[in-house]
Amino acid sequence: MDEVIEPNYRAELALVHHRGFGFHADACAPGIIELLQEVRSRRGLVVELGCGSGLLTRHLVDAGHRVIATDASTAMLDIARAEVPGVEDVRRLVLPDDQIPPADAIVSTGHVLNYLPTEAAVRRALQLTAEALRPGGVMAIDLCDVEYGGLRANAPNLGRVGEDWAIIAEFSLPSADRFVRHISVFVRNSDGSWRRDDEQHDNVLIDTTWVPDLLARHGVVASLRASFGEESLPAGLRAVVGHRPA
Ligand SMILES: C[S@@+](CC[C@H](N)C(=O)[O-])C[C@H]1O[C@@H](n2cnc3c(N)ncnc32)[C@H](O)[C@@H]1O
Repeated sequence: MDEVIEPNYRAELALVHHRGFGFHADACAPGIIELLQEVRSRRGLVVELGCGSGLLTRHLVDAGHRVIATDASTAMLDIARAEVPGVEDVRRLVLPDDQIPPADAIVSTGHVLNYLPTEAAVRRALQLTAEALRPGGVMAIDLCDVEYGGLRANAPNLGRVGEDWAIIAEFSLPSADRFVRHISVFVRNSDGSWRRDDEQHDNVLIDTTWVPDLLARHGVVASLRASFGEESLPAGLRAVVGHRPA
């Protein structure tokens, strides 16, 4: 079997994400669960893209949903498998080329599609997402607009420390449609020593106004929203909420 190359979210950052960055999935979960009410009533299948360590997955499963949780990072998937009992399946799915299973709902938080290398790849992933949605199905994903980068052009470094982890991130905006994070993470070993890993996250930023038109061409009626429900999303992050008419 070919070795899996993990550019993002290797073991250390996956752990730090799980321990310190649950707030976004926690904030989005109530609104997404509300949008999926009808899917739950008919025991529909929810496919989550870029599930990470299962922070949103857990909310969906606790709300009674049948969920297939997918991500590109094997380290994230290992945590999700351990942390979310009751999930229907946890599997590797790398956007935009891996096939998305047919679903009654497709959800995603944490600007997963912005991790794709180009706008063309984001378009392809959105098309495949729309095509995987069954009649009556619902989609709810978040996406960074170009505005996201502009608002953070001069953002200071981020530093956060937990009991057994620490993270430092430097931001840069090499062009209007690229947001780059240089991330160093530190995780404490059981003997008290620390291990470090460094990752670079390149996010492509898109003009999200074309997204509803693209989805409409593939049978999904969608709109851009400021949030999924009552939560406040970070500035420049949009909720894309849609459905395929029954
Ligand atoms: C910011 S994290 C969000 C994780 C999780 N959804 C959450 O809200 O906590 C972005 C996730 O996207 C995943 N990802 C990045 N590129 C991907 C790709 N090409 N296909 C599938 N998942 C990808 C990463 O592995 C990571 O788990």
